[in-house]
Amino acid sequence: MSENFLGAKTQAMLERGIPLFRNGLKFESELEKAGRRGFRAARQIVVDKAAGDFIWDLDGKRYIDFQNGWATNPLGNAHPEIIEAVHQAHLRYGFHYDHPLRYELAEKLLAIMPDRALSRFNYEVSGTEAAEAAVHLALTHTRRRYIISFSSSFHGESLGTKLISGYDGAKNRYLEAWTGGVIRAPYPYSDEMPAGMSQEQYVDFCLWYLDNHIPKSMVPRDNIAAILIEPGLAEGGNWIPPTNFLQGIRAICDKNDWLMISDEVLTGLGRTGKMWGIDHYEVVPDILVVGKNLSGGIEPCAGIAARDEILGDNDAFSSGSTFAGTPAGCAAGIKTLELYEREGLVANAARLGRIASEIMSTWEDYDIVRQVRANGLLVGVGFHSPDPAADAKNWWVARAVRSQMLANGVWAISDREDTIRMYPALNMDEAVLREGLGVMEDAIRHVTAQGFHEGDSPAWPTGVAGF
Ligand SMILES: Cc1ncc(COP(=O)(O)O)c(C=O)c1O
Repeated sequence: MSENFLGAKTQAMLERGIPLFRNGLKFESELEKAGRRGFRAARQIVVDKAAGDFIWDLDGKRYIDFQNGWATNPLGNAHPEIIEAVHQAHLRYGFHYDHPLRYELAEKLLAIMPDRALSRFNYEVSGTEAAEAAVHLALTHTRRRYIISFSSSFHGESLGTKLISGYDGAKNRYLEAWTGGVIRAPYPYSDEMPAGMSQEQYVDFCLWYLDNHIPKSMVPRDNIAAILIEPGLAEGGNWIPPTNFLQGIRAICDKNDWLMISDEVLTGLGRTGKMWGIDHYEVVPDILVVGKNLSGGIEPCAGIAARDEILGDNDAFSSGSTFAGTPAGCAAGIKTLELYEREGLVANAARLGRIASEIMSTWEDYDIVRQVRANGLLVGVGFHSPDPAADAKNWWVARAVRSQMLANGVWAISDREDTIRMYPALNMDEAVLREGLGVMEDAIRHVTAQGFHEGDSPAWPTGVAGF
């Protein structure tokens, strides 16, 4: 078992704070249960300070940051130039809806879209709202009723995006009656791949399902508005789809006159070593959803870009909110894009991604490592119990490795699955990246040698204070 590595201040803050939130009623009993087994349940950090490639917890312990504000800090933590740009926008405009920065940022963003055809923009506050806006835009433009989304996909936690996402069926409990317009199709390379099928066969099946099964057995072709896809299944475990899947989807959309929406909230703006995740597949979507990195890690900013004929003249579409495109959010976006250009950030992400892949290339030799997945700096390592007969869950292994990483000063995400996910900053110092992955490999060795238990993983349900 990994020892309790949390310092006294962090532990005290978690014990004081977590019961205030979701599942707070269960916290005491979970702590007690884990304590009886010799474990401490809470394995979270509370960030006291963040700078560059590192964060510090309340007890002053430093961690290499692979969590990256949940993939929102492309230039590392608290980049001073972005903070300054946001500060200046606050000083000058406070909050107003109409200000020049919203035009300036839209101009800059549209100039880096995968194709100039994506020539109209709409601001939103969060990735969730942007994904919802994309769906509403598709429905109103096509005047159709249905959207196809995928198993294991994640588009947000609002009512609308819960209904559209497919990463956890339980999220739709009590919402069943609301999901009428959503068809979920299988996403290849997800955990759901049927036993005995090769990945190539499964991709063919998934494409067949979209183009044949759905229109023949579920909904007429001319009532489907769009396919909504993440070109890299981010929250669902950093799975990387094969080229022919995305290209196949584009072809199916063209053939059937369906729109293709690429949700790039997490894969966009350099995360995968290209500007957009979709760029790896050489296809152009009709609508592109952007968020996270656009904030520069400082101030929320999100939105959608779409083709002229879709967003340029659509009276039925409505979206946006009071705080969509704030002066501070736009200032963060403008400065962030300026830094992307000045520092060659996308090329750097590709370079660091190659280094990470090279380091991890032998990890599948460890008994507990099931699969290493990486596209640029979208990195996931899947784990499993080496003895399937033993009554151990795969996610215990991932949590045990993550706990050991935390003990040794590296912060990564392992929230729902048997996967540890990592999102290093696109400008992370190469030596820090190497050191962090070195710590991770040591943790894998440690868990391989020592074994793992349920108590190595946080008994605590996720999402309270940032696993
Ligand atoms: C692909 C994708 N879409 C949408 C969202 C929701 O974005 P936000 O949490 O900023 O609302 C996320 C968040 O992780 C995401 O990964």
